[in-house]
Parts: sequence; structure tokens; C-alpha cells
Amino acid sequence: MENVQTLKSEKYKKYFCVPYLMGPNGVRLLDEMLDAFPMKYTEDNSILDLGCGSGLTSLYLAYETGAKVFAADLWISEEDNRKRIEEWGMQDRIIPMQCDANDLQFDKQAFDAVVSVDSYHYFGGKEGYFIEKILPLLKKGGTALICVPGIKNKYTGRSEAYLGPWLGDEASLFRSADEWKQIIGKNRDIVSVKTWELFGFYIPWQEWFDTLHGYALKDKQFFDSVIRPFSCFVGIMVTKI
Ligand SMILES: C[S@@+](CC[C@H](N)C(=O)[O-])C[C@H]1O[C@@H](n2cnc3c(N)ncnc32)[C@H](O)[C@@H]1O
Repeated sequence: MENVQTLKSEKYKKYFCVPYLMGPNGVRLLDEMLDAFPMKYTEDNSILDLGCGSGLTSLYLAYETGAKVFAADLWISEEDNRKRIEEWGMQDRIIPMQCDANDLQFDKQAFDAVVSVDSYHYFGGKEGYFIEKILPLLKKGGTALICVPGIKNKYTGRSEAYLGPWLGDEASLFRSADEWKQIIGKNRDIVSVKTWELFGFYIPWQEWFDTLHGYALKDKQFFDSVIRPFSCFVGIMVTKI
């Protein structure tokens, strides 16, 4: 992620501001994830962007994979996201919806891929959630590609102690790559679960700080003391048979 000029995400740079960014730049994180696990689709394929926020990751997914994207989020209204999607002229390719990841109403095997950036830790951290709620939504051969902020493997089990000063009660949501592998779990329909620590770190954070959002300024105060030494971004890739 060091040579930013060559990244696909550079094309979306004018959106690296409020209200599009809601945390460390998810489009940069997606770049690294899709580089490692490319998704080449057509409009006959569907991706669920779960916890899409203001829809920027959905825009990136629609353009960069070619698929139709269902942009689902809890905190951001369907109307707000529809307005943005229409401004982008992408209403035929991105379908906004406000819903809770704990109560998804999609048909079984509706999606070729489920993607989630910087949101899965809010709802997916309980063992059994993936197998019960996400796996059935994937077609056979489908992929789940998830990126969450987490704690480095070497500090596994110490989230409250190390991240508590920054995150308070939310520290427990930040798990290590090793823990996420366990949390996703095993099932006869899963071919493989890969979890890892992403290389990308400084640029997604710096671009969030550059928005000057109140939460970004608060995060920045903890960057040197907590975020940089103890946290990372965790990638999760699951393939279904
Ligand atoms: C930090 S934002 C990330 C947004 C976007 N993916 C990105 O990278 O810019 C976290 C998102 O998770 C969503 N979220 C949290 N809990 C959720 C739930 N139970 N169901 C659906 N979305 C949820 C919120 O609505 C919020 O927009």
C-alpha cells in the first residue's frame, strides 16, 4: 500500500472526506483485500456490502468488480444512501437498504460475495454468527471478504488492557486474526478460512485524520500511544463449497 499513485482507490480520492469516510479509509483497505483475492464479476453477479456506511465501499465494489451491489447499513438511512448513489449515477448498479445484520431478510444463496469493511466487528463477533447468518446467503463457490480493526496477534486476549484507554467498552470488539479464525468457525460448507494482519495501516488512518471529523481528531490523540503499537486491520476470507 506504499505507492498510492498506482492504487485503484486513487480514483475515489475526492470522496476521502466527510460524510463519505466514517473511519480509517475503507477504500484503501478494500484495495489490499481485492488485490489479494480478486473478484471479477458481471452485473449478473451480486455482492452484499454489509455495513456499507455512506456507500463509498459499495461504489468501489460496483466499479472494480463489475457486480451489482446491495448496500446495506444500520445507522445510515436508505434515503441518504439513495441520494448519493443517484448523484453517482449508479442507481442501476447499487441498491441501498437500511437493515440490521442480525436480521437479514435475503434469500438463501442470494450472493456471490459478502463484503464487509470496518463494520463486521459490531455484529459478527459471536461464535456461530457467520455460520448461521452469512454462510447461507452465499452461493456455492461464493466468498466472504471481511476487514475489521483488531488487535495484533501478539496481544491476543489483551484488548481491554491495551486498547481500553482509547476505546473504552468497545475494546472487547477488537479481536486478533487468530481469534477471528476461531470466531468464524468450521462447517462442512466452508472450504477454507484465512485470517491475517493487513499491511495497510498508516494511509487509511492518516486519511481519516485528514477529514478533521471530531471522532478522527479524538482517534488521532491515541495514535502513537495505543493505535499504532497495539492495533492492526484484520482480513478474513472464507470460501464456500
Ligand atoms: C465505521 S462504519 C464503516 C462504514 C463503511 N463500511 C466504510 O468502511 O466506510 C461502521 C458501519 O457499521 C454499520 N453497522 C453497525 N452495526 C450494524 C448492524 N448490526 N447491521 C448493519 N450495519 C451495522 C454502521 O451502520 C456503520 O455505518
